[in-house]
Amino acid sequence: MNKLSDHVDWQFLFREFWHLYRFGSAGGNAVIRSHLKEVRTRLNAELERNPRVEFEQPIRLPVCAWLNRAIDRGLGERTAPMVRSLIRVSNQLTWKYGYERMRPGLARKYAYAELMGPNGPVMSENLILGMVLFAPRCTYPEHSHDGISESYICLSGSISDSNYSVFNPGSLLFNPPKRAHRMTTGDFEPTLLAYAWVGEPDKLSDQKMDFSAKK
Ligand SMILES: [Fe+2]
Repeated sequence: MNKLSDHVDWQFLFREFWHLYRFGSAGGNAVIRSHLKEVRTRLNAELERNPRVEFEQPIRLPVCAWLNRAIDRGLGERTAPMVRSLIRVSNQLTWKYGYERMRPGLARKYAYAELMGPNGPVMSENLILGMVLFAPRCTYPEHSHDGISESYICLSGSISDSNYSVFNPGSLLFNPPKRAHRMTTGDFEPTLLAYAWVGEPDKLSDQKMDFSAKK
């Protein structure tokens, strides 16, 4: 039971990822269109390979208290198929903080769960896919990623990007390598985002946030 083909709910979760990256709009932007394609190409290659699956101990963190509400709201959005497929694997998720020095306020308001990547649970050297959950009124500090292109697709709630834009379910945020970004969530509802990271294998396996000096 250690191949993706042994875990049907996980296969369908990745089908839903593929769907989001195939039918989500690039808004006419060539750079974003090529990122969507890159994610699909890498995901196809992984699914073809039938990768190894190594589950860690499931972990829930304080922010998971908001997960049910994020799911309930997400089921009423056009991203519902993805949210429904997440429910099927939710008791197998290992939620993490990811920072070495966790800011105290953030620890109760944020966590991510990787679904595919160099650290599993579904093993891939070429693509990281995961979910991020935020409590309301959470600010995820400014940071950037070296050598990694990142996209988030909003599944539930709403999120602002730096001081520029607000994203609702179905919207995509794209951050090319080195672009500094900061995210803030809405006042009352939690926010659930699906994310994808693409880059060279050494960058993906050494994923570190570069926080900007500005506090
Ligand atoms: Fe980021």
